[in-house]
Amino acid sequence: MKNIAVLTSGGDAPGMNAAVRAVVRTGIYHQLNVFGIMYGYRGMLSNDIFPMESKSVANIIQRGGTILKTARCKEFYEYEGRKLAYENLKKHNIDGVVVIGGDGSFNGAQKFSQEFDIPCIGLPGTIDKDIAGTDYTIGFDTAVNTAVEAIDKIRDTADAHDRLFVIEVMGRDAGYIALHSGIATGAEHILMPERKTELDEIVEELQANERRKKLVNLIVVAEGDENGGANGVGKIIKERCPQLDTRVCILGHIQRGGAPTCTDRILASRLGYAAVDALLEGVHNVMIGVVNDKIHYTPLDKAVKAKQEIDPEWFKIVKILAS
Ligand code: F6P
Repeated sequence: MKNIAVLTSGGDAPGMNAAVRAVVRTGIYHQLNVFGIMYGYRGMLSNDIFPMESKSVANIIQRGGTILKTARCKEFYEYEGRKLAYENLKKHNIDGVVVIGGDGSFNGAQKFSQEFDIPCIGLPGTIDKDIAGTDYTIGFDTAVNTAVEAIDKIRDTADAHDRLFVIEVMGRDAGYIALHSGIATGAEHILMPERKTELDEIVEELQANERRKKLVNLIVVAEGDENGGANGVGKIIKERCPQLDTRVCILGHIQRGGAPTCTDRILASRLGYAAVDALLEGVHNVMIGVVNDKIHYTPLDKAVKAKQEIDPEWFKIVKILAS
């Protein structure tokens, strides 16, 4: 292996730049030529591929977003698109690709590497933490900390006005951002797709809270919750608890931006380094994650299909601590 490439794909996640930096610098250390591919798979199709040097990744470890830009690329779903991508990679003699992204990006990488002779290594880069084979994904810690900071501020105003706030966090079909940020901010209820929401119980509890004059009520809702996110939950509560002064707040894309936390920078650096190692050792078509603080390989198709599981103990903790 002489020439490798790196791309970022899907939704951006804080720490992607740190991972790109680690891939580039580890590759150069091993005397590989490292190429950057702009806009994810879209750049493979349009041949937006350029050689990177050590200084191309200077001053980026602390930056959110991704210097390689990112995109979702429909053409790459089709065989013809992947063929064109392969031809472009061959123009640069690229013989290995590191894909930093989420499960959609790994799906593409898996098909591509099966059809063509290009080994791909996936690095989990998504704020959602919804990928099997790793305890954490690049960007999750930063997104959760951003949500926590925002919810703490909302708590101040909730307290000042004796209001109930229903706060929506991101996560697509996964509730990890809701679970972590909800526990860390002392939310009374955390609603997420992995668990059936008993809205009747919640309404009853809110009414009881009102009787015992509980002043701050925070409900954190994952965007993928079955009741239609915070707007859906807020509507039901307003109808059934008209005595409460209820507000809805959707945190949105603020959770995707900002400087990565130390934890995300370290995870990204470690995974980027391990990706180049894997390519050099001939380990192909795996996603590299960290499980119990050790580097862990998962075949790309398994990382795509399975989700992480949420230990039911967490729900008990939420209930006990918020009572
Ligand atoms: O996958 C990351 C994520 O931020 C999800 O949490 C969210 O559902 C989605 O991307 C939003 O995507 P977009 O930025 O395309 O609206």
